[in-house]
Amino acid sequence: MAPVNVSVIYYSATGNVHALARAAVEGAEKAGATVRLRKVRELAPPEAIDSVPAWARHIQDTADVEVADLDDLSWADAVLFGTPTRFGNVASQLKAFIDTAGPLWQQGRLADKVVSAFTATGTAHGGQESTILALSNTFYHWGGIIVPPGYTDPVQFRTGNPYGTSYVSGAGGSNGLPGEEVLQAARHQARRVTETAAALKAGRAA
Ligand SMILES: Cc1cc2nc3c(=O)[nH]c(=O)nc-3n(C[C@H](O)[C@H](O)[C@H](O)COP(=O)(O)O)c2cc1C
Repeated sequence: MAPVNVSVIYYSATGNVHALARAAVEGAEKAGATVRLRKVRELAPPEAIDSVPAWARHIQDTADVEVADLDDLSWADAVLFGTPTRFGNVASQLKAFIDTAGPLWQQGRLADKVVSAFTATGTAHGGQESTILALSNTFYHWGGIIVPPGYTDPVQFRTGNPYGTSYVSGAGGSNGLPGEEVLQAARHQARRVTETAAALKAGRAA
């Protein structure tokens, strides 16, 4: 397999999407990719963060994760984006990072990248698909090659979201952090993204 570069770029306030992102890193690495895990910059004011203990704690716990910059996009053959659902949509922190990518887009340097997305919601019908599809709007503009997980692995029939790995964290996080099954789905999604990017890279080089 041609070696590929994969960036996993995410926002997470209380750790659910971060756990999915780490599983995506594992899946991509296992498939042979060189992987960068990157969080996007936090934009919320300190008083908002401090009012939610799990949020403040998560920021401390992930202090060692590097903050995403544009090189993490241009370097990558494939990018997996993770975001919690915010009112059925992408978190503003991730969107703000994406909106810094105009210069890369203008130079055509976002075209032909393999892209995919995953999310977490509080409730089962709280907008997982709408969030992932909202990210897809951006991918179309980039000329990205969207690789969804579909039902391409038995785990997809158990976790059930062909658009992208999705976790239901429950009211106030009552379900705890993502368990093994959904982490397996995230690994599968990243493996599929990596293998697709590798096949494209090899095909283009031939
Ligand atoms: C401002 C805000 C808006 C949210 N909107 C939704 C929503 O539309 N649907 C939903 O199911 N959960 C919603 N949630 C819950 C989060 O999506 C959920 O807790 C998610 O698991 C958080 O991921 P994280 O732990 O990675 O931050 C919202 C949470 C916040 C703070």
